[in-house]
Amino acid sequence: MPKILTASQAAGYRRDGFVAPVRVMRETEAAAYRQRFEAYEAANGGWYEYSRGQKIHLLQTWAAELVLHPRILDAVEDTLGPDIMCWGSSLFVKEPETTSFVSWHQDSTYWGLSKPNVVTAWVALSPATLESGCMKIVPGTHAWEQIPHADTLSKENLLTRGQEIAVDVDEAQAVAMPLRPGEISIHHIRTVHGSNPNGSNDRRIGYAIRYISPDVAQINASDDSALLCRGEDSHGNFIHETPPVADMDAAALAEHARIMKLRAGVLYKGVAGKPAHTQV
Ligand code: NI
Repeated sequence: MPKILTASQAAGYRRDGFVAPVRVMRETEAAAYRQRFEAYEAANGGWYEYSRGQKIHLLQTWAAELVLHPRILDAVEDTLGPDIMCWGSSLFVKEPETTSFVSWHQDSTYWGLSKPNVVTAWVALSPATLESGCMKIVPGTHAWEQIPHADTLSKENLLTRGQEIAVDVDEAQAVAMPLRPGEISIHHIRTVHGSNPNGSNDRRIGYAIRYISPDVAQINASDDSALLCRGEDSHGNFIHETPPVADMDAAALAEHARIMKLRAGVLYKGVAGKPAHTQV
């Protein structure tokens, strides 16, 4: 029996490679997380600088709470099984009336992970609507093999290398995944997805949490790390991470720096040119 998904949502995930929306908290709880995120931005002159766009859950307690949120983990367990590690997390923030977008891509392209037992829980901290550029997805593409991608290094593209899938994607086949604050979508690592610019008057704030099962291994680098969230790691393929006790304390900054050194070798292997962003 699924823990939080309905039987039809669980079957839909297996068939389509995504499920949305799944409510994991009240809108008021999501608003409190947004407030803590925006307080962090205000105190640090922006959110990107310290985290370099990655693993903010090793720096900020609100982000670690989301990564370990029991209802998010219940939804992930329904798609991935009982042993769950967090391999990464990234904020995808689109400011009101701006041109940032995410090109069509498969997440698996540059992550160096050995098998596709990997899902993303995308947590909406503000309304993700058609107008604000919610994620869109092509159903059934999770069954595809890895497709080649081209690096565009576009500054308007929120992905690490501006990577774009090298096949034509039929927009007519795509399904939009609008989310209210406190809802998540879950998508498989191979599912083709992207998003349009934010034409609304509010920020579109999404927190993308990447979960793996412990039998996955890193093949782009000799070492990589992850945070055990639920169940057991009986494989030992990843160095275990420690979540922060307090926001941005010395131990958290040191842990984040230690982990980012490992990760740089994974994400930029073979990149031609300077990446515009370090989000994935
Ligand atoms: Ni993606």
